[in-house]
Amino acid sequence: MSTASVETESGVAPQSQHLTGPAAAVRAGRLAGTIRIPGDKSISHRALLFGTLARGRTDITGLLEGHDVLATADAMRAFGARIERDEDGVWHVDGVGVGALLEPDRTLDFGNAGTGCRLILGLVAGHGITATFDGDASLRKRPMGRVLKPVQEMGARVLQADGDRLPLTLKGTASPIPITYRLPVPSAQVKSAVLLAGLNAPGVTTVIEPERTRDHTERMLSYFGADLAIEDLADGSRRIALTGRPDLVARPITVPGDPSSAAFPLVAALIVPGSSVRIENVMVNPTRSGLITTLIEMGADITLQNEREAGGEPVADLVVAHSDLTGIEVPAERAPSMVDEYPVLAVAAAFARGRTVMRGLSELRVKESDRLSAVADGLAVNGVDVTVEGNDLIVAGGVRAGGDGAGGDGSAPDGLVPGGGTVATHLDHRIAMAFLVLGLAAKAPVTIDDAAMIATSFPDFLPMMRDLGADIQVGPER
Ligand code: S3P
Repeated sequence: MSTASVETESGVAPQSQHLTGPAAAVRAGRLAGTIRIPGDKSISHRALLFGTLARGRTDITGLLEGHDVLATADAMRAFGARIERDEDGVWHVDGVGVGALLEPDRTLDFGNAGTGCRLILGLVAGHGITATFDGDASLRKRPMGRVLKPVQEMGARVLQADGDRLPLTLKGTASPIPITYRLPVPSAQVKSAVLLAGLNAPGVTTVIEPERTRDHTERMLSYFGADLAIEDLADGSRRIALTGRPDLVARPITVPGDPSSAAFPLVAALIVPGSSVRIENVMVNPTRSGLITTLIEMGADITLQNEREAGGEPVADLVVAHSDLTGIEVPAERAPSMVDEYPVLAVAAAFARGRTVMRGLSELRVKESDRLSAVADGLAVNGVDVTVEGNDLIVAGGVRAGGDGAGGDGSAPDGLVPGGGTVATHLDHRIAMAFLVLGLAAKAPVTIDDAAMIATSFPDFLPMMRDLGADIQVGPER
């Protein structure tokens, strides 16, 4: 394994591992043990943002020290916040207050992070400052128009951009217009960007979301003292109304474990025979727990223990055992509550009996990669029978129908997936981790072309999986 410390603008160097180059996962014996999942990425970004907007010092325990979040920390420093990590791993943010952000003296580089970039576009839009946003090759391909449209209605101006892509320069306004915005796509990033712009507006900014998306921004705004009114409307949508120019006051935050990271050891334990794994500290907010619901419907043996509250979020320990899974139909309405989990759900589906039909996945096309294509290609190259119909993903469990050793129903008699393929990850951390998980239960090793992006969200993925008994080799070791 090749490792390197993570460098940030200010020289803070958290203890994370930076993997580079190809990696291969080999069929494992049983996976067993207890792991504690690192902090949630969505909440970590928001903790740094709201800490910057609050008066006083916000102490953050359990911040995810992945590259995406560190890029947000650097951006917050460029706006004038003082941010430090102490030797116990607690992060301290001395905020500047709503309306008081400084103009950055450098281009803000968000690397691979769509969340940091889109939320901070909203933040800049509502302040009288100009900032230039850039990112890596993946982020430069992702649409920013979904955020630029509402914030321009609020008075921000795009000074320079390549269509709606990065790099772009946004000029914010010190007096944003409070608007009512109905989300055209189910995106918590867009919802959050509008609310962040509305924080400095002289009036009430309203977002209506037809489909419920993750609600961490709303929870944290209320926690820091903002005046927020949330109402479920008769047509099933939700209205979120934020009164602008609140006095946000610093408060301590404990970041719960990321369910989107927990998804990888969770599915690994389900598909590797004989496994029994305990995953501690997993956030089970209903706007994020669609994968657990789906896997249980598929027959997964998952028990929630020690259910509690941490940092204003419901948290539990998950006890997972290898299970015989059955394919199901996953409804489109569930997509927002598990939008980042489809790559690894598709891997679980490859080991299920019968077909799993995942409906309504258009949003997967605008993630760190076109995940619908990346998942289908990765499964196909490993001998899994997969089709994409419009925005639906259909996976037939077991080996390709009529292929080597196929049973009468198209499933392999041993339920195994052939594997042996090399997967193109397209700079996408979740594609990388999902297919390493596939390799832990496939007949032949599964290789991914690059493990580097895993460090954006789950720097400890490799040591944690190895602790459970996984055989994953990276870079020169292979
Ligand atoms: C996120 C929202 C989701 C998700 C992303 C994190 C957030 O994106 O895919 O990983 O923290 O708000 P969308 O809002 O585009 O669905």
